[in-house]
Amino acid sequence: VIFEDSNEASIVVAHEIAALIKKRQGQKRNCVLGLATGSSPIRVYEELVRMHKEEGLSFKNVITFNLDEYLPMEPNNIQSYFYFMHEHLFNHVDIPEKNIHIPDGTVSNEETTAYCLSYDRKIKEHGGLDFQLLGIGRTGHVGFNEPGSHFNSGTRVITLDHITRVDAAPSFLGIANVPRKAITMGIATVRKAKRIVLLGWGENKAGIIKKTIEGDISSHVPATYLQEHDNCTFVLDTGAGSQL
Ligand code: GLP
Repeated sequence: VIFEDSNEASIVVAHEIAALIKKRQGQKRNCVLGLATGSSPIRVYEELVRMHKEEGLSFKNVITFNLDEYLPMEPNNIQSYFYFMHEHLFNHVDIPEKNIHIPDGTVSNEETTAYCLSYDRKIKEHGGLDFQLLGIGRTGHVGFNEPGSHFNSGTRVITLDHITRVDAAPSFLGIANVPRKAITMGIATVRKAKRIVLLGWGENKAGIIKKTIEGDISSHVPATYLQEHDNCTFVLDTGAGSQL
C-alpha cells in the first residue's frame, strides 16, 4: 500500500494495532506484539501514545517482543534499543514492565545460545506473535537478519553487515563505536507472526523495497522471504514506492 506521506500511513498502522489490542481485550486475551526500532516506527508509537492519553487505549493486556538489540549493550545506554523503546513507547503507556521483552545485550558469550532459544520459547508460550511490525535496512535486513540469513533461522547472535554499521555510525558518533554484533529474532521467528506490517519511508529505501517485493526470494535479501507470508503488507510512502 502506497500512501502520499508517512504520517498518514503511520496513523493507519497505529489504528490497526489499537484495533487488535481492543479486540483481544474483548476476548479477555493478551495481545502479543513484535516491535521494531529505527526511525520508521516512531510516528506509529507516537500515535499509540496519543490514543493511550486521549482515548484511554490500555496496554495492560499487551505483551511485547522486540526484534533485536546490539551486543554488547547496556540497557541504560542511550544507543540501546531498550532505551529507544522506553523513550518512544513504554514510558508513556500503562504496559506492565513484566510484559516487555527486549533481547538482553548484556548476556555473556557462554549464555547466548540458551538465551536465544529461551527468547523464541517465550514467544511460543505466549501463543505466538499476533502482529509483527518491521522496518527494513538498506541491506534488506529485517530485525538484524543480514544477507546470508537462513529462512529457517531462529533468534540468534549475528555479525552486523558493514553497511548496517555505516548507517548506525551517526548515532554512535563514529563507526568505531558501533557494536559488531547483535541479537536478532530469526527469519522463522518473524515469519510465524500471524500478521506482518513492514514500514518503508523515503527514496533511499526505494531500491531495497523494489528488490524485496519484485526480486527473487533469496538469502541475499532476507526481507524477500516475506513474499511467502500470507498476511504481510508493505506500507510505503511515495518515495519508498517510487521504483515499483
Ligand atoms: C536497524 C534495525 C532494524 C530497522 C533498520 C532500519 O538496523 N535493527 O530493525 O528496520 O534499522 O531503520 P530505519 O527505520 O531507521 O530506517
